[in-house]
Amino acid sequence: MFPRPGACYDGRSKFHNQGKSFMPGGIRFFAVLLLLSAALSGMAQQSAATYDATKVFRLDGGNVTYAIGINPRGELQQLYWGGRLASSDQIPAAVPEREWASFDSSYTTTPQEYSGWGSGLFVEPALKVTFADGNRDLVLHYERHETTTNGLNIVLKDIKRKIFVTLYYAIDPDSGILARSATIENGEAQPITLEQAAAAAWAMPPGDYTLNYLTGRWAGEWTLTQETLHPGERVIESRRGSTGHQANPWFAIQAGDHPDEDAGEVWFGALAWSGSWRITVEQDQLDAIRVTGGFNPFDFGYALHPGESLESPVFYGGYSAHGLGGASRLLHHFEIAHVLPHRVGEGDSVAPKPRPVIYNSWEATEMNVNEAGQIALAEKAAALGVDRFVMDDGWFGQRKTDHSGLGDWYVNPQKFPHGLKPLIDKVHSLGMDFGLWVEPEMVNPDSDLYRQHPDWVLNFPGRPRSEQRNQLVLNLARSDVHDYVLGFLDKLLSENDIAFLKWDYNRNWSEPGWDQLPPNEQKKVYVAFVQNVYGILAELKRRHPKVEIESCSGGGGRVDLGILKYADEVWPSDNTDPFDRLTQQDGFTYAYTPQVMMAWVTDSPHWLNKRSTSLTYRMLSSMQGSLGIGANITKWNDEEFTTARRLIAAYHQVQPTIVQGDLYRLISPRNGSEFSATQTVNRDRSQSVVFAFIHSTQEGRGFPRLKLKGLDPKTEYTLTPIESAAEKDTPTTASGAWWMNHGIDMGEDFRGDFQAAAFRLDKK
Ligand code: DGJ
Repeated sequence: MFPRPGACYDGRSKFHNQGKSFMPGGIRFFAVLLLLSAALSGMAQQSAATYDATKVFRLDGGNVTYAIGINPRGELQQLYWGGRLASSDQIPAAVPEREWASFDSSYTTTPQEYSGWGSGLFVEPALKVTFADGNRDLVLHYERHETTTNGLNIVLKDIKRKIFVTLYYAIDPDSGILARSATIENGEAQPITLEQAAAAAWAMPPGDYTLNYLTGRWAGEWTLTQETLHPGERVIESRRGSTGHQANPWFAIQAGDHPDEDAGEVWFGALAWSGSWRITVEQDQLDAIRVTGGFNPFDFGYALHPGESLESPVFYGGYSAHGLGGASRLLHHFEIAHVLPHRVGEGDSVAPKPRPVIYNSWEATEMNVNEAGQIALAEKAAALGVDRFVMDDGWFGQRKTDHSGLGDWYVNPQKFPHGLKPLIDKVHSLGMDFGLWVEPEMVNPDSDLYRQHPDWVLNFPGRPRSEQRNQLVLNLARSDVHDYVLGFLDKLLSENDIAFLKWDYNRNWSEPGWDQLPPNEQKKVYVAFVQNVYGILAELKRRHPKVEIESCSGGGGRVDLGILKYADEVWPSDNTDPFDRLTQQDGFTYAYTPQVMMAWVTDSPHWLNKRSTSLTYRMLSSMQGSLGIGANITKWNDEEFTTARRLIAAYHQVQPTIVQGDLYRLISPRNGSEFSATQTVNRDRSQSVVFAFIHSTQEGRGFPRLKLKGLDPKTEYTLTPIESAAEKDTPTTASGAWWMNHGIDMGEDFRGDFQAAAFRLDKK
């Protein structure tokens, strides 16, 4: 795995630092360096981290150079982040930015790597502290550093007090993506309170920029929002206790006043945190850009006792000179290579395999699951060529509706009188593996668990407990709740042959009290809860190495690079309308690889929009990601079966190219586009897959000629339709140069409403 410098999410509430201090001895620091070096030594290609006499640190990886320096005042200052420089290039020593009259001192105009709030700082600080004596001034200066093969660890210290911040840097030799994080340690004799603690701050020089970020709502996630940056601050955040549907912890900033898919400089980042988070994008007084991200400071207040430390999440950052498309391609490959769980027993260098094609029961049966009904669905799913059968909500406790049962994780004896075994055995006999839905962090008040442990939920004593979907949030920060959740999941996986858990999470927080702790400690819930979620996932994977996990939160409410260290895939949205999904999938893939993007084919007309579409259209829409079937297939006719079986077989053949190749967005489905098209190319450019969709033909306009990208111009490729009423005017075999310069003529017949076509191109 790509190193998570300094990480110690071990499943228990580790916010009290048990480790050694960075002060004399530095044992923990040394251990971190060893771990970092060991992890990086497995990387395919070397990157460089250097420090020179001018006090400049330089990190080179992929096509990227990142440079920081210690300025004469002792601050760590960002110097350069962009295209890779020649190794002979000397980066000038750090010189603080000028003061702008008496109102903006040099301290605030200078882009610091990790600034304390103090000394007249008016931009976002990385760290804001209140000391026990009421002092709130914090000025961080360079103290010492270590370089490693691919990274750096730099210790900063307040100019007077023993507040230490260790900044971790590691650069990926292939993509040039940097992993940055910080550990804040209290070396004072009194407790301090952290009011704001970022993972990292990034900077771009003065100029015109366009910001891209992802917004949405339940059933409407993944809207790519694009706007020109203006002076002031744009806040992208979640205050909800988890990642959220409404905004996602990813950004991309493009040079210039308009976004471009293929050209131009783009700086991008993704925060690996599944709790309340915040990213701020500021254009400062001198038109420079500062991006700061980490724990959301809203309602934060993290108490650090003497000797304790707090680790921030990792904030990944990258640079591409090839537009938004280039940025997302770098991120996709990085996620597969260094973030997602890797195959067990094969070492860290083996990328995750394409996902099994799944069947999921939710839209077919909702909570009305039982042995006979699920077996009937499983038989049909197997006949389609599905690899994994997943039983969704409704199998446990007294779960008849969403009013009851959550928290009681025993198999419902009326629905499954012989337990889960007969169903699981049947699924296995049909050649599929078995997956199961759980929602471990929640409880219905109408459950045995809540009746026994009403104190286990997030709450403020004496205040109402707001229910959403008739459920409350278990306080997973508590060790007893942690043990209960880990215990029941471990038992479930030990007693049943389960290959996959769909881990759901169907509400956000309210009344986030943790009344076991003294009042000034209770806000630690924002960190400890998430650490325990990660800890349970890690421990389950350790005890059950073959079990795979999907992160779902009423659709795409918990998708981020923190959860994706443990989750093999995600459920992007409860909205399975195949037309809506085109735009959602388009937005999703700016930040996340299609490898993790589950996409089910469901019934028509669709429940949300009442839109009718052909099965072919629905299949091709879903085949752009990791394919699943979620329809009531017991009602499908022979023709539907034949179509789905044929397309699942065709998908299996080209799936690695679709989900792990280079993604090119040929025509965007955004902004009411009549047409859309995507293309993926595998790494050795021997295969490419193209999808094209028509919303509705207007005024007889034909589909634009599709000029492909990313092929080898000199290689001959053969075009084969996967599904098409088109390509009549196109040769079967032609050079990459032909397909890229001339393009595919889609033909006169490719017209109408909700039409779809797909092709594969294979090296001849
Ligand atoms: C929300 C999920 O997103 C759905 O797919 C389904 O699992 C339901 N929860 C079950 O309650």
